[in-house]
Amino acid sequence: MKHITCIEDLRQRHMRKVPKAFFDYCDRGSYAEETLRANREDLQAIKLRQRILVDVSKRDTATTILGEPAALPLILAPVGLTGMQHSDGEIHACRAAHAAGIPYTLSTMSICSIEDVAANVDKPFWFQLYVMKDRGFIKALIERAIAAKCSALVLTVDLQVIGQRHADIKNGMTVPPEWSLSKLVDFATKPAWVAGVLRGKRRTFGNLAGHLKGADDVVALGNWISTQFDTTLNWKDVEWIRSIWPGKLVLKGILDVEDANEAAKTGAQALVVSNHGGRQLDGAPSSIAALPEIVDAVGDKMEVMFDGGIRSGQDVVRAIAHGARSCMIGRAYIHGLGAYGGPGVTKAIDIIRAELMTTMGLCGVNTIAEIDDHVLAV
Ligand code: FNR
Repeated sequence: MKHITCIEDLRQRHMRKVPKAFFDYCDRGSYAEETLRANREDLQAIKLRQRILVDVSKRDTATTILGEPAALPLILAPVGLTGMQHSDGEIHACRAAHAAGIPYTLSTMSICSIEDVAANVDKPFWFQLYVMKDRGFIKALIERAIAAKCSALVLTVDLQVIGQRHADIKNGMTVPPEWSLSKLVDFATKPAWVAGVLRGKRRTFGNLAGHLKGADDVVALGNWISTQFDTTLNWKDVEWIRSIWPGKLVLKGILDVEDANEAAKTGAQALVVSNHGGRQLDGAPSSIAALPEIVDAVGDKMEVMFDGGIRSGQDVVRAIAHGARSCMIGRAYIHGLGAYGGPGVTKAIDIIRAELMTTMGLCGVNTIAEIDDHVLAV
């Protein structure tokens, strides 16, 4: 990996290594991808303030996340189908996160199940919950997360209705998968990936065993998912989940200050300012544009986390300078996983850590707590 110097290098390698349908599933966004682009463009438009002749010999990226020590203000975000980017992908990603001293979040839509990951890692991880129509199943999932000693529940609240991702439909990302000649040719040119998946024991949604009813027809994955998800979901359900989940609760997918104010009343410890990585409401503001107002409104009541477009340590500094306490990364680590498996996830985290250290030094700060709007150039 000597020539891999930035997340974009991992992305390029991921693109070559993994079948197009799975790469596009990770890389692309909903509809015209305006919000996907805005996430990156708005972060990149933020200019940092270069400072000189400050003693920066004692730089330290350590912080706390949900009251626990963390080596970096970084969390691996929940990503569905991670195990299709690389076999046992969720286990590899979780191990890499733990080795780096940061939390890992397992998606409801993971390939490895909660129990699978728990049996293969030695520290608790976070579990992300999507609320589906069958509440008995949701209660059982929460009980499984409790039994696996998951250290936080991340309740995703921005996927009641699914934003269409054109690429997934065009690529036949379906349950079960849709085959075509071009797809077969594509798979044939990715032998390492095919061999990995054949070696791996897991090829379907691990947490949903027995709950794939309705998936027998060939429907676009997004459409199938949208038939399972509960469009009636509302704040009362958050109360219900709060009452049956005894641990730390994070509400993920808040972009509006009124919603943030409601979230602060739920007893959740944190929220994630997020537009689902530009995969849901196209035309919504970038996450970074939404962040400052939400921090102003609820930053003293709950931990405000951020995601959407983070591809570098510079981006982490930008988000923290706008009031985020920590950042989730999605695609940045999935590119690493798709490119090189577990070591690729470690590489992605290492790249961001090194960039963060350098950026802190060049901005003249030594600690994460010192990163505020003083590091921004106006
Ligand atoms: C996601 N995201 C997501 N979020 C969630 O709560 N549950 C999930 O299962 C998924 N699945 C998923 C799959 C893929 C391929 C991507 C790229 C994203 C959203 C994710 O947690 C996070 O909010 C975004 O990825 C953040 O944006 P960046 O870092 O990818 O730009």
